[in-house]
Amino acid sequence: MFTSTNPSNTNEVIATVPEATATEILAILRTAKKAQKGWAKLPAPTRGRIIANVGRLVESNKETLAKLITKEMGKVYSEALGEVQEVVDTCDFFLGEGRRLYGQTVPSEMQNKNLFTFRMPVGNVFVITAGNFPTAVPSWYIVPALLSGNSVVWKPSEFTPAVANALTAIFHAGGVPQDILMTVVADGGQTFTALESGLKEGVINKVGFTGSTEVGRKIGAKAGEYIQSACLELGGKNPMVVMPDANIDLALDGALFAGFGTAGQRCTSLGTLWIHDSIYDTVLSKFAALVENAAVGDPFKDVLFGPMISQKYLDNHLSHLKMVQSHHKVLGSTSTGQITATNPRKGFVGDPDKGIFAHPVIVAGITKNDELYSTETFGPLVTVGKFSTLDEAIELANGHGYGLSSAIYTNDPQNVWRFREGISAGMVSINNSTSGAEAHLPFGGNGLSGNGSRQSGIWVLDQFTRWQSMNWDWSNKLQKAQMDLIEIKHDPNFVLKI
Ligand code: UN1
Repeated sequence: MFTSTNPSNTNEVIATVPEATATEILAILRTAKKAQKGWAKLPAPTRGRIIANVGRLVESNKETLAKLITKEMGKVYSEALGEVQEVVDTCDFFLGEGRRLYGQTVPSEMQNKNLFTFRMPVGNVFVITAGNFPTAVPSWYIVPALLSGNSVVWKPSEFTPAVANALTAIFHAGGVPQDILMTVVADGGQTFTALESGLKEGVINKVGFTGSTEVGRKIGAKAGEYIQSACLELGGKNPMVVMPDANIDLALDGALFAGFGTAGQRCTSLGTLWIHDSIYDTVLSKFAALVENAAVGDPFKDVLFGPMISQKYLDNHLSHLKMVQSHHKVLGSTSTGQITATNPRKGFVGDPDKGIFAHPVIVAGITKNDELYSTETFGPLVTVGKFSTLDEAIELANGHGYGLSSAIYTNDPQNVWRFREGISAGMVSINNSTSGAEAHLPFGGNGLSGNGSRQSGIWVLDQFTRWQSMNWDWSNKLQKAQMDLIEIKHDPNFVLKI
């Protein structure tokens, strides 16, 4: 059994759910796989209408779902509402795609012959997601996968089973058959065993994974063994570059939200704030003051961030604090580590001893050789460093090998274009936070952040469909491509004389 508790009040149990074994997951994978063909026969516009129903139901249950997210996962309520809105937006985008799912008509090189392309569903999709976005990120996989005629088995985070079951119930209420979307909670080991058996047996035809680079590497390798390429959305060490010509207050607003929103537990959270050396001291001290004075605590109140998702996430954060070195300057709070009555944070909202709260941390003076430079911290910890030229900033921003999100604050268009061209990240923000991507632009990263797969918008359709090409020769004779060429009469030596 898995028991999820409220990270703001760990005595409060949110849900106790059965924990599936690998054998049970495999049985579920088989059931979904078997049902998929019938689902794919349903006209795509009808599947679109079902997605429309789901979107409307998510919208009408927005507050209930958001409250459950805040209770089980701990993000502040306004962010939880935003997350649920992202599910609605995703449904709104894909309900119309049901009436498109376009293929092409393509001219043939021969007469009396026509060429076509069709999008075919891949089959059964195994989706494995993390706890930080318990509804929005799963919906990025589930909605387009269902719309394009696939069945889905979803393994949510064991830290958010109540939210996962609530979202699944909404999908079913909207008209998605029970065996077309099946949700199963399990631990990592059992899930991986089931993944391997499912791939081997052919009851998994696509894997979607959002989580750490370490786990993504293993999942990607396993899928590769079975000639599949997983859709991977992995970690980040997202840079934000502040040029001397930037609107500094705007940049600071962006850094505060990107660094500490969701307690830094977004894959798009700010990793390192790179400040031009001419403004380094001023910007750093303003940033430190903002973080020191920010409200932290009860996520149902007006705070910058609430608790960590679970003890595991806090432990992970504490291990990163050990990477702080003597040449670093630590700023941002009255202390570091867990916030408790004996290790208090000035102005804490609520009772810190009831939950799993961490002090926000700024580690200034980061350099390329530091462990923290290349470590995704996934907690309320922002590293800060300096640079003297934009080329140097771009090199520092790319140097660790992650490439998910990035940002530059500048008012000079030349800087914007040079940064966009030089940065290796899949997503670039200009004068905006590294987090907070809109739900219909390609989302995904490069290098350690992903294998080039993209979610959201029309781009994700390439993850959940395969192109099938068809040629139809109605000439009633065998016409041979590349061999039966139509002769073109022309004069290759022609020179214009005036
Ligand atoms: C994630 O943390 O895995 O852009 C996704 C953002 C959100 C999604 C984050 N829309 O920050």
